[in-house]
Amino acid sequence: MCAKTTDINNKPLHISYESLLQGNKDWVQETLQADPDYFNKLSAGQKPPILWIGCSDSRVPANQITNTNPGDIFVHRNIANVVVHTDMNMLSVLDYAVNVLEVEHVIVCGHYGCGGVEAAMGNKQFGIIDNWLRNIKDTYRLHYHELDLISDHKKRAEKLVELNVIEGVFNLSKTSIVQNRWKNGKKLGLHGWAYSLETGLIKDLNVTCENNSHMSAVFKIADIDKV
Ligand code: CO
Repeated sequence: MCAKTTDINNKPLHISYESLLQGNKDWVQETLQADPDYFNKLSAGQKPPILWIGCSDSRVPANQITNTNPGDIFVHRNIANVVVHTDMNMLSVLDYAVNVLEVEHVIVCGHYGCGGVEAAMGNKQFGIIDNWLRNIKDTYRLHYHELDLISDHKKRAEKLVELNVIEGVFNLSKTSIVQNRWKNGKKLGLHGWAYSLETGLIKDLNVTCENNSHMSAVFKIADIDKV
């Protein structure tokens, strides 16, 4: 059901403003042919079980790489899938997903070859984005003893992609949104994944977190009435 990106000779089609609108019409037609009731059902409401926090990179669309459909995944994307406590956009998405949609899983999915992570490893100025990417430099500082031992640049960047995801999962677990959900006895799993642009495969980084037992005391949030 994906829009065609190549012609019959396998040459890339030019993507333009107009071609997107035509692509939409084609998609609606194909979708209705397969299921005339598709949009009636989808417009009735959403109950996705998953929140996805991923990179804005055009090559990592949550639905396509997980073989899922509209309605399956609630999505938040930013450059280099950074999870920062002061990001009202991310916190609003997280709060709505956890407390209104009641998702049972939050996945932070990074990807190897991430330009944002690569930029954060260097010293070049890129403008406003440097402020955002500095969060990844902080992650580098936290793990420099491990990262500096990796002499191969590509491998070091891949490790930082993974550590950026792991810090993201940890940062999610520190939020009052997540900890209050756990306190209320609700199931909520936080997961860290890394996607390979080269193979199309996702690696589970095995950092799944379902309670705050692992957390240092300073991050644990008490019940509101006990504060
Ligand atoms: Co990226």
